[in-house]
Amino acid sequence: MSLGGKVAVVTGAAKGIGKAIAENFLQNGAKVVLLDVDETTAKGLKKVLDQKFGEEKTLFIRCNVESEEDIKAAFEATMATFGCMDILCNNAGILSEDQWERAVSVNLGGVIRMTYAALEKMSQQSGGRGGVVVNTASVGGLGPLASCPVYSATKHGVIGFTRAMAAASTASNYGIRFNAICPGAVQTDLFASVTNCLGPFSHLAHLFEKFAADGVLQPSDVAQCVLELVTEEVKNGEVLVVDHSGKKYMTFPAVF
Ligand SMILES: NC(=O)c1ccc[n+]([C@@H]2O[C@H](COP(=O)([O-])OP(=O)(O)OC[C@H]3O[C@@H](n4cnc5c(N)ncnc54)[C@H](O)[C@@H]3O)[C@@H](O)[C@H]2O)c1
Repeated sequence: MSLGGKVAVVTGAAKGIGKAIAENFLQNGAKVVLLDVDETTAKGLKKVLDQKFGEEKTLFIRCNVESEEDIKAAFEATMATFGCMDILCNNAGILSEDQWERAVSVNLGGVIRMTYAALEKMSQQSGGRGGVVVNTASVGGLGPLASCPVYSATKHGVIGFTRAMAAASTASNYGIRFNAICPGAVQTDLFASVTNCLGPFSHLAHLFEKFAADGVLQPSDVAQCVLELVTEEVKNGEVLVVDHSGKKYMTFPAVF
């Protein structure tokens, strides 16, 4: 399925996995709203994307996913520029065991804030045209990462929230499909700096190194899986796990 005529909003789009998701969406015909706190990097990326795809194809808005005010303004600007939104990728995330409250606020709080604000624009119950929400979790959201417990907890939370929202969407006729992607290690700045961000667990850095030694993905590998989640007939609530050994879909039935 082509993404022609579709509008996608991507958080943490300035670099790493978010940047790769944005580029892949553009290559497949979507218009993309790039949200990030890193204005300098995002503006540099926008220039490159303007040359490749045309400046009318993207919009950059500085948006901290910790701020409801920023999020509201970003969605208003999206609607004013493109008139609708069909796809939301909640991708922004940090790993900081030292600043664990911030990690919870960005990784889990950010997904929740963005989702609630997006429902107002996307839900068929609010006059939207429905769509797809893809949340970036991690394999650390399926099993414990001993070297970064808070990061691991936030990603478990992202998966739980995605699955529960999928069930709520079906029960409420939002017309929105919710899925999560769980990548293994991916070659990005977050990945490169992990061992400096483990705070009280820095003595366990060797465990992370062992995990990464199994194999590292490129951001484009993850972006391709996100494209698949958006364009293929994937079940609401399914979680796509992708690591060095390949990819597999996981389904979790709702409890009630
Ligand atoms: N790299 C990996 O090994 C890996 C593995 C699994 C999951 N993930 C997840 O993938 C996502 C992207 O990570 P990445 O590896 O590309 O990291 P990255 O550090 O390369 O990029 C993250 C982007 O998010 C932005 N960001 C950070 N805080 C923000 C905030 N409060 N509001 C808006 N933007 C913010 C940053 O400015 C940056 O542009 C994260 O959710 C991360 O947890 C990464």
